[in-house]
Amino acid sequence: MKGKFQVEKFKNIRTPFYYYDTNILRDTLKAIKSETDKHEHFMVHYAIKANANPKVLNIICQAGLGVDCVSGGEIERALEVGFPANKIVFAGVGKSDWEIELAINKDIFCFNVESIPELEVINQIAQEKGKIAHVAFRINPNVGAHTHANITTGLAENKFGIAMCDMLTVIEEAKNMKNVKFVGLHFHIGSQILDMGDFEALCNRINELQDTLERNNIKVEHINVGGGLGIDYEHPNLSPIPDFKSYFETYSKFLRLRNGQQVHFELGRAVVGQMGTLITKTLYVKQGSAKKFAIVDAGMTDLIRPALYQAYHKIENISSNAPTEAYDVVGPICESSDVFAKSIDLNKCQRGDLIAIRSAGAYGEIMASQYNCRKMPQGYITEEL
Ligand code: LLP
Repeated sequence: MKGKFQVEKFKNIRTPFYYYDTNILRDTLKAIKSETDKHEHFMVHYAIKANANPKVLNIICQAGLGVDCVSGGEIERALEVGFPANKIVFAGVGKSDWEIELAINKDIFCFNVESIPELEVINQIAQEKGKIAHVAFRINPNVGAHTHANITTGLAENKFGIAMCDMLTVIEEAKNMKNVKFVGLHFHIGSQILDMGDFEALCNRINELQDTLERNNIKVEHINVGGGLGIDYEHPNLSPIPDFKSYFETYSKFLRLRNGQQVHFELGRAVVGQMGTLITKTLYVKQGSAKKFAIVDAGMTDLIRPALYQAYHKIENISSNAPTEAYDVVGPICESSDVFAKSIDLNKCQRGDLIAIRSAGAYGEIMASQYNCRKMPQGYITEEL
């Protein structure tokens, strides 16, 4: 056993694989519950896009969270695991007809609608089925977030949501349709946000929009503020649990609610990020002309975040206590971007050593691909080892 990993138990499992530490997951869920219990009108929908491994979902479902889906496949997965339909929200700029039908058939809680053409299709499908679909409008708040450009979503230039200036028009349109009911407003400014000031700015924007609605006598049952709370990629051991206290307090302090409104959150990364580790084996150590490479059996097909966003993940050699050396940690895929880290210090590596790529529970396994006809990585939870 080295550090927090029981390396012996990993030895019989085909690498690369994801290891999900369910103690961390349960502690994370407890922390969310203890903070949200302080605010009876707060409700968290887990953003299933972050990790849809059924074993992980089971634990999240048992903790009582709802679920935020962005495809028919995610809705099916959520229902299979046992999330009740009335705790499912369905977001996304491009919902297909079959996905809308599925959501209406199952009586999900609410659609987060991103355009008038989409609203018209939902209304029509609901009419065919003799049902009334609940809809919230995703408003693009034009609030920037201090995060990677590829994962900010709330700026005017992004494809997401309805412009603020069109908010009253779409609500009016919905009122004229017989088979949709307007129930809420939805926002999401981006992901991996650690500066609470960004969420405060969102609250201020929502307050302004709510003032406008109040002047127009429009009632809103719930405000969905999206997700986005970040995790500490640098220190997975020191900060395994994200700062939920500051996060929920920010909304409690700055969001001005009107009579009886609920606040919904769609957290993904913060729920599952720190419990996950990609375990990979060192295949070869190669001395290049300028640097030393640790060539591992995981690639960008197993964890694409470093290649796609230049994301940092802490990497450890969990098989060795030898003095450290500098390595580029690279995968086997035929792409120069198949690099997990450059010039990092690892305990001296040799063939067969297990390498842990940390904080990989969110947007890891779920974004894996079969490029190069690779086998998909499997995910294991603590109880299985
Ligand atoms: N709600 C909506 C509408 C979203 O688009 C997202 C994430 C979430 C909630 C959950 O956000 P979270 O709490 O996880 O930050 N693949 C990227 C992240 C993409 C996030 C997409 N939307 C990554 O690996 O960093």
